Amino acid sequence: MFDSAVFAARRDAYMRAIGPGAVAVVRSLPERLRNGDAFHPFRQLSDLFYLTGFVEPDTTLILRPGAETDRVVMFVRPRDPDMEVWDGRRAGVEGAKEVYGADAAHPAAELSSKMWELIANCEEVHYSLGLDEDMDKQIGRAIAYLRKTEKKGKRPPRAVVDPRAALHELRLRKQPEELAALRKASEISIEAHLLAMKTGRPGVFEHELEALINYTFRRHGGTGPGYTTIVGAGENATILHYIENRCAVADGDLVLVDAGCEYQHYTADITRTWPASGRFTPPQRRVYEIVLATQVSAIEMVKPGVTIDEIHDHCVRNLTEGMIALGLLTGTAEERIADLAYKKFYMHGTSHWLGLDVHDAGAYTRGGKSRPLEPGMVITIEPGLYIAADAADVPAELRGIGIRIEDDVVVTDRGHEVLTAACPKRIEDIEAACRG
Ligand code: GLY
Ligand code: MN
Ligand code: MN
Repeated sequence: MFDSAVFAARRDAYMRAIGPGAVAVVRSLPERLRNGDAFHPFRQLSDLFYLTGFVEPDTTLILRPGAETDRVVMFVRPRDPDMEVWDGRRAGVEGAKEVYGADAAHPAAELSSKMWELIANCEEVHYSLGLDEDMDKQIGRAIAYLRKTEKKGKRPPRAVVDPRAALHELRLRKQPEELAALRKASEISIEAHLLAMKTGRPGVFEHELEALINYTFRRHGGTGPGYTTIVGAGENATILHYIENRCAVADGDLVLVDAGCEYQHYTADITRTWPASGRFTPPQRRVYEIVLATQVSAIEMVKPGVTIDEIHDHCVRNLTEGMIALGLLTGTAEERIADLAYKKFYMHGTSHWLGLDVHDAGAYTRGGKSRPLEPGMVITIEPGLYIAADAADVPAELRGIGIRIEDDVVVTDRGHEVLTAACPKRIEDIEAACRG
């Protein structure tokens, strides 16, 4: 984990951004049952991790930039030796203050009785409505109570403000320690992709490759995958979020692997597509070269001032021309873009923010338009072509081919840095990696 000074600096920056009239409330999401009495592993809400580094459930952070004392207040699970024997160590209220920098800390159970006082008389509460119904109700009750106490000098906030307004703007521009975590996540992910390419011969099951990939993530100290690992062989590669990973890889298949390691809570997001036999067939090669040329030229566009929409339009244009050249579509690129026919084979966006969440926080638009990229932002570039096995009116040899190529790109002062550049993607490099 980063030094506690990193989290303190983030809280200070956030408090400066929302100003002395605001209060921010950030709460962890509830633990979720998986089945019976077994829970999904707990993963801290990214906003809360960003501001505290605190990874325990049942945690609430209240930031009060205008307060004279107790600007940073935490509600946490108290120490409990009996429970800790079963469920693991807790920092407790002492740890929240001594290790995590809270000015005041209270047991989680006291949140509902103390909330109204902590938000009283502020102008705005910055809080993410709609994530957790129980917490929404607690905030609602605190506001309703304050409406009744106005005559006694405790009035409710005038507005509830979405965290996108300030917190997600901070998360959008990555600091050096965040880029270091993303670099490490990328390095580990690249090793996992290389191992999959080396191992993924006909007869191997998709889940075996998934296991090798996830093992590699954990072996190097990652939490595991930052999103469920996708291993799609043959026509499974045409299903964008195929996560069953249950089929055997067959001779002649392309294998699409979309997998990224989460390291220190930051995730990489890499896709590579490679031939199980170690050599692309001529039709596979033709489709692959179109996607690759599109992806490489899209990455070249990344620099401050360019927008994600411009990058996407470029990819749509290139891929649509490719679809026509392949015989998937007829007419001109302008016509097929205008009537959206290209969406049959390229139906997703080209980029998203990347960071603590795979689809990271941050507004994509400004005044209704795609916003210009700025140094420190991290995006994916992930064009693809997906030709369904039962697609009508397409050359038979192209049916069932799915290809996506995805890299992670930091916007720098003058251009960009590809965090995942060491993961092979040129045809000869892919074929060499498949030979091991
Ligand atoms: N792995 C999910 C995505 O590429 O957006
Ligand atoms: Mn992605
Ligand atoms: Mn991906």
